[in-house]
Amino acid sequence: MTLVNAHAFRRCATLILALAILAAGCGLAAAHGEGKKADKKGVLLVAFGTSVEGADGVYANIEKKVREALPGVEVRWAYSSKMIRHKLAKEKNARLDSPAEALARMMDDDFSQVVVQSLQTIPGEEFHALRETAQAFSGMPKGMRQVVVGYPLLATTADLEKAAEALLAGAPEARKPGEAVVFVGHGTSHPANVYYAGLQYHLWKKDRAAFVGTVEGAPTREDVIRELKQAGIRKAYLVPLLAVAGDHARNDIGGDEPGSWKSVLTAQGVACEPVLKGTAEYGGVVDIWVEHVKQAFERL
Ligand code: CO
Repeated sequence: MTLVNAHAFRRCATLILALAILAAGCGLAAAHGEGKKADKKGVLLVAFGTSVEGADGVYANIEKKVREALPGVEVRWAYSSKMIRHKLAKEKNARLDSPAEALARMMDDDFSQVVVQSLQTIPGEEFHALRETAQAFSGMPKGMRQVVVGYPLLATTADLEKAAEALLAGAPEARKPGEAVVFVGHGTSHPANVYYAGLQYHLWKKDRAAFVGTVEGAPTREDVIRELKQAGIRKAYLVPLLAVAGDHARNDIGGDEPGSWKSVLTAQGVACEPVLKGTAEYGGVVDIWVEHVKQAFERL
């Protein structure tokens, strides 16, 4: 055998050996029924959760729009509030998954890639907790290859512009010139609280009598009262800047008890008309969340 032929023989032998190992590997995998599976992509919608009557219909509408945007893609739900999940289990015998439970189930149901989209307003504490949960499930052994989290309602400057427009489009039609609309959000000590002031800026570009306040952050109720007085406003519609008009909207904002926004503003000479409509009921707001699902899906 010449030198050249010996090399060729060794190369050939190596190739045959490699093929044999590959074939054996395939055989093993086939025997376990775990050969390479086709991609299975899904969407997990995460709501804080609510026990308010009628919220089911609001959530169903969002799911319908997501399905229309991503035909053929399975859509599932999770509630991030443990308190709400336990309440629903106890009172209505309804079993709802936490985000981690839902992702574990999707992992077991052979999803390869998942978009997690929450119906949050700002990228605050809840959003970052969800990102960490998604991260933990991304690339888990025998699990999902990729889990991507879509942006909350307010993330980019374009979101703020669109949200301002959508909120004003859905504001009470009965409002007359000189009357204010006050969008009251949750508010947080998280740095993302600045989004509320950002939204205020974009609202004012369109409507000087549209204000933003928060229950637990800034702008505070006192900030809003000062602005209303400066503008000489005597009547305001109190509108929740919350996905669902639940507990905060019914009690802290629009309730009749002494400490509510309605009571405090009324005592300050601003007549109040509370509105029980969550932002998940605004077509334009839902469109922003759906757009964020689509953007995240394109990253899979
Ligand atoms: Co709260």
